[in-house]
Amino acid sequence: MSDEEGGRRESGSEVVLEAKDIHKSYAVSRTPREVVGGVSLTVRAGDLVAVMGPSGCGKSTLLHVLGGLTTPDQGSVRIQDTDLYGLSDRDLAAFRRRNIGFVFQFFNLLPSLTAAENVMLPYSLERERVWPMRGLGRDRDARARADAVMTMLGLRGLQGHRPDEIAGGEQQRVAVARALVTDPAIILADEPTGTLDYHSGRSVLELLLRLSRQDGRTIVLVTHDVRTAAYADRVALMLDGQIKETVELGRRSVHDTAPLLERLAAHGL
Ligand SMILES: Nc1ncnc2c1ncn2[C@@H]1O[C@H](COP(=O)(O)OP(=O)(O)OP(=O)(O)O)[C@@H](O)[C@H]1O
Ligand SMILES: [Mg+2]
Repeated sequence: MSDEEGGRRESGSEVVLEAKDIHKSYAVSRTPREVVGGVSLTVRAGDLVAVMGPSGCGKSTLLHVLGGLTTPDQGSVRIQDTDLYGLSDRDLAAFRRRNIGFVFQFFNLLPSLTAAENVMLPYSLERERVWPMRGLGRDRDARARADAVMTMLGLRGLQGHRPDEIAGGEQQRVAVARALVTDPAIILADEPTGTLDYHSGRSVLELLLRLSRQDGRTIVLVTHDVRTAAYADRVALMLDGQIKETVELGRRSVHDTAPLLERLAAHGL
């Protein structure tokens, strides 16, 4: 992508996610401890943003708040035009299914379903089939949709396999397909390569990168790993529950880790 396009994106793109002053505390041995302490974040259409920081700094908690999974004590999250925590629990669950694609560290595929059925599931659920598991095999629309997404991601051969029959990297790519099947506004990925070896991890990152650069997908990626963060165009450095600095890397494909390492060192990491 040219600088010009990059510039247009910066100034003109629609804001997909806007988090304002998020606070979240957990009681540890009955003493409340603030795990996220006043984070604000704006993500525009087509952004690939990484949130990077050491273990325990609050990354997962923040991502769960951004995705409507954990209610903050204070602050707001808006995705497109919807204020997540202004919704009822039921409406929030429906909004999440429709508009947010999650990718987790441990894939979280359902072991008794085939890869294709795992991919179909959120789409079937979105249309509020009463209990789609029973009718899943007959949901032609969902199957066609899963087929299309899996083909696009190079997963055609895996459709009939169950998760325990395929490699970790492939399972995670199936999980990415599942996250995409409802065509969500945003994809939130929490350490998506955390349990993968270097090569499988790279194939998952290359896939996220392609979704961002070629398809204009909007992605927030949480990681403690500098090499993973270097795939992003913007890296929010998180420490002790706060974003200390946001490093702009630009939109080259994969970035040098040196500028990130330098900024981490500046914060004593
Ligand atoms: N449900 C919970 N109840 C109590 N404490 C929690 C809960 N969830 C997280 N914490 C605590 O909040 C802190 C931040 O946790 P979080 O999982 O957000 O960190 P993280 O940056 O994602 O770490 P990692 O890189 O290890 O995944 C940790 O000290 C954790 O123990
Ligand atoms: Mg975490």
